[in-house]
Amino acid sequence: MCGIVGYTGSQDCMPILLRGLGSLAYRGYDSAGVAISDGREIAVVKERGKLKNLEDTLAQRPLVGTAGIGHTRWATHGEPNAVNAHPHVDQNRKLALVHNGIIENYRPLKERLMQEGCAFVSETDTEVVAQLIGSLYQGDPKQAIVEAMRQIKGSFALAILFRDDPGTVYCVCDGSPMVVGSGRTGSFAASDIPALLPYTRKVTFLEKRQMAILRPDGISFYDRDGNPITKTVTRVEWDVEAAKKGNFEHFMLKEIHEQPNALINTIRQYVSERTGFLRESIFPWSTEEAGKLKRIRIVSCGSAYHAGLLGKKFFEHLAKLPTEVEVASEYRYSDALFEPGEPMMLISQSGETADTIAAMRMAKERGQQTVAVCNVIGSTIARECDRTLFTYAGPEIAVAATKSYVTQVAVLYLTALDLAYRRGCMTEQAVRDCLEALHTVPEKMRRVLERQEQVQAYANRHVTARKMFFIGRGLDHALCLEGALKLKEIAYIHTDAYAAGELKHGTIALIEDGSLVVSVATQRDLLPKMASNMEEVRVRGADILAVTNGTGGLGEHCSEQWDFPTVPDMLAPFLAIVPLQLLAYYMGVARGCSIDQPRNLAKSVTVE
Ligand code: AGP
Repeated sequence: MCGIVGYTGSQDCMPILLRGLGSLAYRGYDSAGVAISDGREIAVVKERGKLKNLEDTLAQRPLVGTAGIGHTRWATHGEPNAVNAHPHVDQNRKLALVHNGIIENYRPLKERLMQEGCAFVSETDTEVVAQLIGSLYQGDPKQAIVEAMRQIKGSFALAILFRDDPGTVYCVCDGSPMVVGSGRTGSFAASDIPALLPYTRKVTFLEKRQMAILRPDGISFYDRDGNPITKTVTRVEWDVEAAKKGNFEHFMLKEIHEQPNALINTIRQYVSERTGFLRESIFPWSTEEAGKLKRIRIVSCGSAYHAGLLGKKFFEHLAKLPTEVEVASEYRYSDALFEPGEPMMLISQSGETADTIAAMRMAKERGQQTVAVCNVIGSTIARECDRTLFTYAGPEIAVAATKSYVTQVAVLYLTALDLAYRRGCMTEQAVRDCLEALHTVPEKMRRVLERQEQVQAYANRHVTARKMFFIGRGLDHALCLEGALKLKEIAYIHTDAYAAGELKHGTIALIEDGSLVVSVATQRDLLPKMASNMEEVRVRGADILAVTNGTGGLGEHCSEQWDFPTVPDMLAPFLAIVPLQLLAYYMGVARGCSIDQPRNLAKSVTVE
C-alpha cells in the first residue's frame, strides 16, 4: 500500500518528509519520491527501491523549501521504477501530486487527454490525475481539483502542490485514507497516524471526497463541491514508542509478545470491571434486536477472514445464530443473497482493505446493518459502518496480522457471549463462567510464549522445508488456515491447511516419507478422530508435530508435541495460534526472509 506525507510551515520540509516516509515504510513499497516548492518552482526527486536510495540522492542534491509532499509507492500500474514513482507532474509542471489508490477509469481519461495534446511520460494511473488537474487548472487550484474529482472514478488519496500557490498543500481522498493535523511548526498530512505523531496528537480524518487545504498557519476543509465544512478533531492516545520495535529484532516478534496485553486491553473495553459482566451499551444489538436476528454474514480477507471462521463457531455454538463467513473478494462478485434484516459484519485490522470496503458499501446500499470489527480509529470501515467494535491491539506495524487477529477473535467471542445471553441461549452465570476463563488466557498465553526456544529449535531443524501440511477439525481447522497463511507470508513455504477428515478424499496421496504435518488437536471431543487422522499419515511416513492441550494422549501418533495450558475448548485458539505464529516467525528468520515487510505483500491491501 502506498504512503503519502505532506507538510507546509516554518521548517525546512525535506527532513520532515523523509522522516514521515520512514514511519510509513512498514506499509510495503518499491520506490519513493518527494516534491518540494521553493517558492518559484516545484522540484521533484524520486528513486526506485528503498528510501535510502532517495535519501542518498537528496544528500547529493538537497531540495530547499518549506512546503512539500512525499510518497512511497507499492506498484499497481506500471513497473516499480523511477519514472513511474511518485510524485507526478502535469506536462506544464504547474503542479505535482502523489496518490494512494487506483483510478479505475484512467484509460479513457488518458486517451481523451492525449487527444487534447497531453504528453505522458509514465505508465501510471496517477499521472493521468496530474495531467487532468493540470488541464482543468485556470488559476484556482481548489476548483480544478473539484472538477477533476467529478471525472475520476476509483479510490484515491491525493496530496498536491501547485507552482502558483507555493506554501499550500491540497489533500483529497475517497476510499484511501488521509489524515491531517496542525502542529507547532505548521500543517501535516499523511496516509496514516504514525507519520503525524512526532508533531501532533490532534488529527482529522478526511472522508469521502472531502478536501483539506494545508497552509502554514492552519487547515481548512471543504466538501466535494468546494464548499467550506467543519471537521471534528480526534486525539490519538497511543504513542510513537508503541509503534517502535523496542528490544525486539522485528515488529512481528514484538507484536506476538504484545498479544497478552492486547487481549487484556481489548477485553476490558467490553467487560465492566465494576460488574464483572459484559458492558451494557457497547455491543451492536439490543436484547430485542438480538432475539430477532435470523442470520449474520461475516465478510473479510486473509487473517481477518480466518478470525471470522472462528466467529462463526462462536456465534453458532453459543448464540445459536446461523452465520455465513465469506471472503470479501468473492462475496462482492457473488449473487450476495441475504435475508431481510440480516446484518453484515466486516472484520478488518486496517479498515482500509479495498475488497472489504466494497462489500461494506454493497451492504449499505441495500440497507443492511453493517458492523465493523476494526483496529484503526478513523479508518474508512470504522467510519462508514453503522456500528464499530474496536479491537485495542495498538498499532500493528508488521505486515503479518498477529495481535490484531487475536483481538479480533476476542471481540467475536465476547459478541457471541452477548448475543447468547440476550437470545436466552446462556444464563448470566454461564456467561460469567466463560468470562472468568477468558480472563485466564493472557497469563496462559505468556506461558506459551516462554517456550519459544522449542519452536525456534523446530524451525532450525526444518529450515529447508518446502512444503508443510496443517490438519485440524472444527475450530482447529480454522486455526490451521491461519497458521498455514503465516508460514506462507513470512517464511515463503508452500503450506496447505486441511480439515483432517478430508485427507482421505485425495490429499493423503501427497503424503510421503518425511512429509511435515502440523496437527492442531485441541478439541477434546474430536481428539480420537484426530488420533486416527494422525496415524493415517504417520504410517505413510509423515513427520508430525502436534499442537495440543495435552489431554489427548497423542504422543504415540506424533514425532513432537507442543502442549499448552488447559483452557475450555472454545478458548483453545488463543493459545494454539501462538506457537504457529512463532513457527512462521522463526522459520522466516532461519530462511533469511524479510520478516516485517515480506516480498509482494503490503500491510493493508487498498487495491483490488
Ligand atoms: C495476514 O497476516 C495478512 N497481513 C493479510 O491476510 C491481512 O489479514 C488481510 O489483508 C486483511 O487485512 P485487514 O485486516 O487490514 O482488512
